[in-house]
Amino acid sequence: MELNDAILQRRSIRKFKPDAVDSATIAKLLEAARLAPSGSNLQPWRFIAVTSEEMRAKLAATTLDFVCTAPLVMVCCADLNATETRAERSAELRAAGAFAGTQLENMSLADYQQRTQSDPAATAAYLSLNVAIAMEHMVLRAVELGLGSCWVFMFSRGKVKKVLDLPDNLLVTGLIPFGYPDQEPQPRPRLPLDQIYLGEV
Ligand SMILES: Cc1cc2nc3c(=O)[nH]c(=O)nc-3n(C[C@H](O)[C@H](O)[C@H](O)COP(=O)(O)O)c2cc1C
Repeated sequence: MELNDAILQRRSIRKFKPDAVDSATIAKLLEAARLAPSGSNLQPWRFIAVTSEEMRAKLAATTLDFVCTAPLVMVCCADLNATETRAERSAELRAAGAFAGTQLENMSLADYQQRTQSDPAATAAYLSLNVAIAMEHMVLRAVELGLGSCWVFMFSRGKVKKVLDLPDNLLVTGLIPFGYPDQEPQPRPRLPLDQIYLGEV
């Protein structure tokens, strides 16, 4: 499938067939997420695939009614400890030649770190932004795999953490129910280009 077709065909799906998403398909979604870009190559995303009836029933109480009707709910988290691996990750990038010919090539680690430092709230937002990119990779790959999905931000962070017994360093960024679509929605409204494009300079 062409990427543009996946972009055109994707819809937020809120009605799913009960058919399970098999583990090979889940692996393909995760591989799409794994290959996403991230700041300093931190790869702060962590995922839990909730498929069992029992856990989906527990998760259902934490979010919107349609979410856990999907046979797979991907719980997408940011590892707040990931920033601690910045030195290691940036060294790997340098060794892989990613910085060749740019000012990053010879930048000291101290300078590199200093340019990326921010307060805890900004760091959490930054890490969540990275997770969001990986989430959208999965969502687009899902189209190619015949799966429907929906980004879900309406959930109780505390309750999800409790249900899944997640450690403190994991910040739940979003949920994505995945399953075979039981609806074929028309494209949803979008702003016209002239309202989002402020021009070329
Ligand atoms: C960051 C984000 C959060 C969203 N949260 C929810 C949500 O909590 N519940 C929901 O039903 N849809 C949610 N959506 C789906 C949007 O409503 C949907 O993308 C938008 O209406 C456009 O429709 P489309 O995805 O079918 O093109 C979310 C989408 C994004 C990108």
